[in-house]
Amino acid sequence: MITLPEAPRLLPPSTAVKVSYLTGEQVDCVARGSETDWLGPASEDFDGFVAARVGVKERWNVPSTVFWYQAGEHYLGTLVIRHELTDELFVEGGHIGYHVVAPWQRQGHATRMLGAGIAHARDLGLSRVLLTCAPENEPSRRVIAANGGKQDETLGDALRFWIDC
Ligand SMILES: CC(C)(COP(=O)(O)OP(=O)(O)OC[C@H]1O[C@@H](n2cnc3c(N)ncnc32)[C@H](O)[C@@H]1OP(=O)(O)O)[C@@H](O)C(=O)NCCC(=O)NCCS
Repeated sequence: MITLPEAPRLLPPSTAVKVSYLTGEQVDCVARGSETDWLGPASEDFDGFVAARVGVKERWNVPSTVFWYQAGEHYLGTLVIRHELTDELFVEGGHIGYHVVAPWQRQGHATRMLGAGIAHARDLGLSRVLLTCAPENEPSRRVIAANGGKQDETLGDALRFWIDC
């Protein structure tokens, strides 16, 4: 495994991780069989791609902040904090969403990344955060459980958990 130069941190999106971001996301998309069309434009104008993601932006109809989990030039994953919940997000989506790209999975990064994300949520003034996950997503369930998630009733298709910040 690659030795990281420092412990990964949740930081604003940065051009410093261009190569590992694009490579990691491409590997991840191919592995999951998900959409790859966005990678071409992102690689052609990475500065613009990053600029569009820095700071508080309106997404999912709420103010949201995107963080990238980074260690030096290495990009490991993304975590988004939605500062508020809509009725839809209350059922599915929650305050925090995340993924760790395939090359860095199964090394405890998501568990630690969510812990760091909860600290950021606290800094944003949230006292507890809602997380949702598909019932079959055992890895994510474990990540949420390791961070103290307490299961609430299921209102839609996803399981729902609260974590105190
Ligand atoms: C879910 C996800 C974030 C986990 O990332 P990760 O960095 O591999 O997670 P961790 O290394 O912290 O592992 C957490 C736990 O899940 C287990 N796990 C991770 N991947 C696994 C897999 N493919 N199969 C079985 N168990 C797995 C780990 O062994 C660990 O278990 P433990 O706490 O009992 O030791 C990652 O698989 C991912 O990005 N998936 C796609 C997006 C997604 O599902 N996001 C969450 C939406 S709710």
